[in-house]
Amino acid sequence: MGSINAVVDLRHQNGVAVVAMDNAPVNALGIALRTGLMRAMDQLRGDPAVKAIVLCGTARAFSGGADITEFGKPPQDPNLRQVIAAVEDMPVPVVAAIQGVALGGGLELALGCHARVAWGTARLGLPEVKLGLLPGAGGTQRLPRVVGLEKALSMIVTGNPIGAKEAADCGLVDAVLDGAYPDAAVAWAQTLTERRRVRDRDDALTSAREDPGLINSMAAPLLKASGAAAPRACVEAVRGAVDLPFEEGLANERRLFEQLVTGDESRAQRHAFFAEREAQKAVLPSGTQPRPVARAAVVGAGTMGGGIAMCFANAGIPVTVIETEQAALDRGMARIAELYGISAKRGSITPAQAEERRGRIQGQLGLDGARDADIVVEAVFEDMGVKKQVFAELDRLAKPGAVLATNTSYLDIDEIAGATSRPGDVLGTHFFSPANVMKLLEIVRGRQTSPEVIATAADLGKKLSKVGVVVGNCFGFVGNRMLARRSDAAERLLLDGASPAEVDAALTAFGFRMGPFAMADLAGLDIGMRIRRAFGKRAPVSDALCDAGRYGQKTGSGFYVYEGRNATPDPEVDRIIAAESEKLGITRHPVGADEITERLIYPMINEGARILEEGIAARPGDIDAIWLHGYNWPVWRGGPMFYADLVGLPRIRDRLQDFHAATGDKALRPAPLLSKLADAGQGFAGQDFGARAA
Ligand code: CAA
Repeated sequence: MGSINAVVDLRHQNGVAVVAMDNAPVNALGIALRTGLMRAMDQLRGDPAVKAIVLCGTARAFSGGADITEFGKPPQDPNLRQVIAAVEDMPVPVVAAIQGVALGGGLELALGCHARVAWGTARLGLPEVKLGLLPGAGGTQRLPRVVGLEKALSMIVTGNPIGAKEAADCGLVDAVLDGAYPDAAVAWAQTLTERRRVRDRDDALTSAREDPGLINSMAAPLLKASGAAAPRACVEAVRGAVDLPFEEGLANERRLFEQLVTGDESRAQRHAFFAEREAQKAVLPSGTQPRPVARAAVVGAGTMGGGIAMCFANAGIPVTVIETEQAALDRGMARIAELYGISAKRGSITPAQAEERRGRIQGQLGLDGARDADIVVEAVFEDMGVKKQVFAELDRLAKPGAVLATNTSYLDIDEIAGATSRPGDVLGTHFFSPANVMKLLEIVRGRQTSPEVIATAADLGKKLSKVGVVVGNCFGFVGNRMLARRSDAAERLLLDGASPAEVDAALTAFGFRMGPFAMADLAGLDIGMRIRRAFGKRAPVSDALCDAGRYGQKTGSGFYVYEGRNATPDPEVDRIIAAESEKLGITRHPVGADEITERLIYPMINEGARILEEGIAARPGDIDAIWLHGYNWPVWRGGPMFYADLVGLPRIRDRLQDFHAATGDKALRPAPLLSKLADAGQGFAGQDFGARAA
């Protein structure tokens, strides 16, 4: 409890007033914090004993920005712009002392101060664009006046934060301090002789004002490849800093912010932010504790095994990679070393970090290497027989209490667990390729998996910097099960008359980086074919292409022909498709882009509804998080289940009925849950599915 209110404290130290914000967890600038800051400024204004003010936060956060949960609710005064104006107008210098994060409105508050000092681990940024917004409390007007146009544009349009050193180099902070927090800032503030408002620092914008084309040339590379509105609005707001007087620039920024905050894209991105965090909270009996994981083993040194081992090593967990043959082990270890070398060369980690991480990975022949591990992740190829053999042996060798995880995309976890005498310790960990890069981790709960083991995997997911989402055991789990519906739809669209390029174009226009056929060509058509064969399934066009030796990019042709990575449509593919349509007695006809999109996306949503009905996913947001982090779903569309609510479930149900009638495909019949919610005029959001999955 602070002296001003519950979240703001004011104390005096050698003529400096220290205003401390403490609104756990991240000092979001909600109404209580704003009110407290305003009161503190009122109290200090005109106090002759105060020579300077230090505004500080906690070790974790100076401030994580505006309180996102307040968006969309009736505004409450004082608003953040009023608080920042009050700080800026204080008659004595106000110094922002930044430890932890200063993000969004948090950095905008710091920019309202007359000086900024940071501790070495601070991260400063304006990430609003990642929420489909722009900095709406003066950030687009003040940041360019401090760091110049180019740096400001890059920070505002990408939303990526910078560290303390970079902030000092570009002038965003005036000093990097390393003493006690915030005392070192108090001492620093005592040496201040001037009080200069950021709004008055127009000199940084002189060259931009003399060259009207400059902002466009700087913005163009930042805007490429995004269909979202927010990055463009960010540029327009910054343009106001160049073209307009300060107050008008602020008003322009506000107008643009208001447009975004009420729009669907920002709603979608705010949903994505919270869904990602909620999805990582496994639904478990209260009090369930994870088991400690100090040492890991990964069985298999292939692409997946190596990538998974790197995840452990990157998180500081020593790991043994196990193979059956020396040559395979050598290849795997060499590949790991190569990948770390590439990261060091690119500068994403230092050479010393690369060496340290590589040093945490040791190779060993034989499953004996798993004896000491607290968790063993099996990543051998997708063959039930082989996996069961590995688990039977792990059962014999692994220490009691070790978590036994299988990395599989679609195999039955219960059957694998059945090969052991300890099914409670077995679960699935579905990593996505490349495992050391992709954020998604599906944590697959078997029938007998103990809550403690799920908690261990969920906790581990966080340590490995993954978005770990607990899902139930079924063919393809959540992500691939829904993807299969999209793949079926894509095949059927070809047979009905669409071309691969038309189908791909519909999905890229929707916001995916790649369409299904370009993706299949990249991954290799033979992979899908092998899986289909194992389960007695067919995909007429893909199978015919494989029969013709067209496996995708690696063979120079698949759905397209390739020169390097450049894809061109191929009349031969059109002939193959037409022949398959004829065999099936399908009359081909042109299919419009909107219909293509609906036929690709709605069957996935339908499958999502079944997944919720069956308790395979606990919440609609979990499905969204999976698609956002594992399948490149465009974040400004929020995820498939959020998107479904936006479209409206009656429309989706009706279209599915049309598609079912036209194709006879049973999977396209609207799921009972979808129909029920559509009839009731409801959406997926806010429905309680959690208890069923617990
Ligand atoms: N508002 C409300 N809640 C927030 C929040 C915010 N700005 N930032 C974080 N939280 C909440 C999270 O939802 C989470 O809540 P639960 O524990 O209930 O799940 C909790 O704080 C901790 O967050 P994380 O789990 O993300 O913790 P972290 O340490 O991994 O990351 C962080 C901390 C870097 C601040 C990260 O939370 C983050 O990036 N937050 C968003 C920052 C942001 O976008 N700020 C701009 C807001 S918009 C704005 O400011 C508009 C404007 O111009 C006025």
